[in-house]
Amino acid sequence: MDFSKTLITGGDGMVGSYVDFGVKTNKRSLDITDLKEVLLVVNKYKPKAILHLAAETDVDRCERDPQFAYFINSIGTYNIALAAKQIGAKLVYVSTNAIFDGKKKTPYQENDAPNPQNYYGHSKFLGEAAIKELLEDYLIVRASWMFGGGPAKDQKFVAKIINQIKNPEIKEIKAVTDQIGAPTSGKDLVKGIKFLLEKDEKGIFNLPNSGIASRYDVAKFIINTLRPEVNVIPVDSSYFNLDAKRIGNDGLISKINIMRSWQDAMAEYLKEEWI
Ligand SMILES: NC(=O)c1ccc[n+]([C@@H]2O[C@H](COP(=O)([O-])OP(=O)(O)OC[C@H]3O[C@@H](n4cnc5c(N)ncnc54)[C@H](OP(=O)(O)O)[C@@H]3O)[C@@H](O)[C@H]2O)c1
Repeated sequence: MDFSKTLITGGDGMVGSYVDFGVKTNKRSLDITDLKEVLLVVNKYKPKAILHLAAETDVDRCERDPQFAYFINSIGTYNIALAAKQIGAKLVYVSTNAIFDGKKKTPYQENDAPNPQNYYGHSKFLGEAAIKELLEDYLIVRASWMFGGGPAKDQKFVAKIINQIKNPEIKEIKAVTDQIGAPTSGKDLVKGIKFLLEKDEKGIFNLPNSGIASRYDVAKFIINTLRPEVNVIPVDSSYFNLDAKRIGNDGLISKINIMRSWQDAMAEYLKEEWI
């Protein structure tokens, strides 16, 4: 696999910041909702593979503006799949546990039936459907609670916890125990994708770090590492009033065993990018 012949969409995003190969594009150089531009750019570079990372990832914004969510995540992905088909490129799409309904008692496997419960999940699910419909040579790689990007790009749970405990006045924080997920390092995800591309794998792969955790477990891990004197109070999710419905079980398990534990990945992330 010649990684230099890969075109990346959404290259300025969190996951994109760990991609150290190929031609990176961003919203200015390649707007995935503009089919004409997509076909032009893809035909210009004629990549062997397209790593499609561009998305609207703000789950609450998707809930407030579903049309926008579908425009970026479903139609945008359809456009990219169409371009990949036209030039015969392999397509790698990063999808999410949010395509599942969260009612299963154990972590979701690759072949479990999708049943998205919010607009973000449904718009990403339609992205998957477009790819399966149009292409044969694709990788759909699913992640759950993603972390990465450091102070500049992390806007998710880990950054929110760190930003709270930066304030020396804070002596305690609350974190929910009834939401379970599979923390996924953006850096490890990119390594996993490279591994699958090297092997010319096809199909659907869950690629979280190994192990599952509650939000409380993740918060406790961060606090034990950075400010162990802060108290973490367990609460349930009704305590926080959010726009998008959160599902109970965000857990994923992979059919392949290539990812290290979330604790090892998180410890490295905190040490290398936050301390
Ligand atoms: N983060 C997670 O927890 C998570 C979990 C599972 C799966 N995923 C998936 O992983 C992939 C990468 O996520 P990420 O965390 O790197 O997200 P991110 O940091 O939000 O990056 C997404 C990038 O896409 C760009 N973008 C938005 N609209 C675009 C458009 N019309 N054309 C081209 N680019 C556009 C964004 O640009 P602007 O910032 O300028 O809008 C941003 O740079 C996404 O497909 C996401 O759905 C993420």
